[in-house]
Order: sequence, then structure tokens, then C-alpha cells
Amino acid sequence: MKRKIMVTGGAGFIGSNFIHYIIQNTDYEVVNVDALTYAGNLENLKNLTDEKKHRFIRCDICDKNSLKEIFDGNEFSGVINFAAESHVDRSILDPSVFIDTNVKGTLNLLQLTMERCAGRFLQISTDEVYGELKTEEEKSFTEDSLIKPNSPYAASKASADMLVLAFNRTFKQDVVITRCSNNYGPYQFPEKLIPLIIYKAMRMEKLPIYGDGKNVRDWIHVNDHARGVLLAFEKGKSGEVYNIGSRNEKTNIELVRLILKILGREESLIEFVKDRPGHDRRYSIDPSKAERELGFKVLNDFDSSLRDTVNWYQSNKEWVDHCITGEYREYFKKNYSPKEAI
Ligand code: NAD
Ligand code: TYD
Repeated sequence: MKRKIMVTGGAGFIGSNFIHYIIQNTDYEVVNVDALTYAGNLENLKNLTDEKKHRFIRCDICDKNSLKEIFDGNEFSGVINFAAESHVDRSILDPSVFIDTNVKGTLNLLQLTMERCAGRFLQISTDEVYGELKTEEEKSFTEDSLIKPNSPYAASKASADMLVLAFNRTFKQDVVITRCSNNYGPYQFPEKLIPLIIYKAMRMEKLPIYGDGKNVRDWIHVNDHARGVLLAFEKGKSGEVYNIGSRNEKTNIELVRLILKILGREESLIEFVKDRPGHDRRYSIDPSKAERELGFKVLNDFDSSLRDTVNWYQSNKEWVDHCITGEYREYFKKNYSPKEAI
């Protein structure tokens, strides 16, 4: 049986954690296809570069000809698409690259996976495609909730989901979609809430909280997400969507206070700033279907995993500094020959 899979976006936050997870826990060989945008950081995979089970190829999923060469040179038993522009604030500043990567890039991968009979296509999606819940009383998102994205990021991810499902219906392509809530853990680019707050609080800088700080996010450890993805890839039914979450809602202000407590910093660092345009009020994921049908279970306890995450950023100051200064880009130049950059 072929056990080689293509993982796109494997130099980013969730993709790199997923690769660590499957290299440690399975016998899959991974071809990691990543364009190394600002969010792609090979330092996330430093310990894996010598591993026979992981090969990195620099390639933009919008570049179909280069993608073709990769499909032609490998026999894949599946494709897992993490590659995306992923930051809502950036999508507000410039939505166009979100359409290129998240929609057109996904279409390229879908077409080539189908044409080259490369097995199952798993699309990594997000709870943000469901839009927002307005109150605490509204029920959590299920797979049957309406798709009502609000940010350009969420709209691009929803468009990709529609394409993936259309390929299943029209061409009978084997596809699965996972929709996960907000992730936390090591290797997250410090533009997202948790690593940003840890970074700034460690330096005693002001902590920008959008609006009234009462927006709610549903937090899951990235390793729980990785296990959910693998379960969906191996056990999910073709054409189905699976929500992945850990029933762990926190207001932003509550979460920031928890981080400050772990770090032993004063709450006076908190600064309420202008709200994000179109800011979704609340996300909440119901993972019952994945629990029932895939045997998905959350293993990471939030309080201790948040503490571990804060400790990780404290112990990996160099990694964070390289993100901030852009020095992580040097790592690719030093460690990879131009041949590996198709
Ligand atoms: P990230 O921004 O940390 O990483 C994205 C990766 O994709 C980077 O390595 C980047 O170089 C790569 N990439 C971007 N454009 C590319 C292109 N055109 N071609 C090839 N590679 C490209 O993102 P993340 O937080 O790891 O998210 C990964 C996936 O999970 C995304 O699809 C995102 O929508 C989804 N998701 C994220 C969260 C979250 O909380 N971060 C929650 C649910 C779903
Ligand atoms: P973020 O990590 O950008 O994830 P998403 O918007 O995809 O959920 O933001 C998480 C929450 O934190 C969101 O409600 C916006 C808020 N936020 C701030 O209050 N300040 C910040 O500087 C950032 C980046 C986010």
C-alpha cells in the first residue's frame, strides 16, 4: 500500500505541528509543499530535515506547472491542504492574495489530485466559514449550520469548501473537509492573539485588545487538531465535513488575563484599541460528529496546555525573534539548495 502523502503549508503553524505529529506516530512519508510566504518557517521543522520520511519542496500552489512536476515525480495516496493565507487582519488590508492561494490554489490541487489519481483530498477549513454567533445562548456550529462568512479570509475559505464539495458531487472525487476552531501551541506566527500577547507581555509592551475584549473564541491545542485531521483523513466518509473543536470558549479578555497570570505580569498592560472591522462576536464548535463517527477525543487539558505554550514561547525566544526580524528566511538559504526550490 502506498503511504506517501502531499502536505501543503507544512512550514506554517498547524502544518508543521501536523508533520511532527505524523512523523512521530505513523509510517507516512511526507512531501511538504510550501511557498514559504512570511508565515512559512522551516525552523519549525528543523529537527526533521534529515528524516527520510520528510521531504520539503518549495512551491506555490498557485503555480500549476510546478505543482504538476511534483505530482508527476511522486505517487501519492492522498493530499492534505493546509496551505493558506490565514490572518483575518491581513485579509482586511488586502483580500486578493487570499483569493489566489485559498481559492485558486485549492482548485489547482483538486484538479491535479483528480487527474493524477493521487487519492483522498483533505481540505483544512475553519469554523470561520459559519460566520458568527451573536450571543452566549446561540447553539454551537454544527456541520449543518449555514455558511455565512464575514471576513475576506473566511469568504475565501468558504469558497474553497464549496469547490471541494462540488468536485465530490460532480466528479466523484474522494474529498473530506475538516473545520476547526482557533488553535494554540508552539510555532504560531506572533501576529495571532496568543503568541502576540505572550511576546508583548514578556517585553512589558502594551497589549492591544480589539473593541470591548468580549469576543469569544473556542480554543483547541494544535496537537488535538492534528489528531483530528489524521482521523478524518483515515476514517472520514468521502464527501463529508467534520467539525473539530474542544468545547473551550473564552472571551479574549479572559484569555489575556490568564496569560498575564502565567507570566506574572500586571493587567495594566492591557490596552483596549479600535475594533477590527466586521469583528465576529463568537465562535463555538460542536465536534459531536467527529467524536461519534471518527472516535475523536480531546487529550490536551486547556489550563496546563496554555501554561506549556507560554513556557514554549519563553524558552524559544530565538525562534520568536527570528519571526519578528525576518531572520528565519536565512534558514532556508543556508540549509536548502536552489534545486529544492522549484
Ligand atoms: P499559517 O499562516 O501559519 O501557515 C500557512 C502556511 O501556508 C505557511 O507555511 C505558508 O508559507 C503556506 N502558504 C501560504 N500561501 C501558499 C501558497 N500560495 N503556496 C504554498 N504554500 C503557501 O497558517 P495556519 O494557522 O497554520 O493554518 C493552516 C490551515 O489551517 C489554514 O488553511 C487555515 O485556514 C486553517 N485553520 C487555521 C486555524 C488557526 O487557528 N490558525 C484554525 C482553523 C483552521
Ligand atoms: P486571531 O488570533 O487573529 O484569530 P481569529 O481572528 O482568526 O479568530 O484573533 C483572535 C481574537 O483576538 C479575535 O477576536 C481578534 C482578537 N485580537 C485582539 O483583540 N488583538 C489582537 O492584536 C489580535 C491579533 C487579535
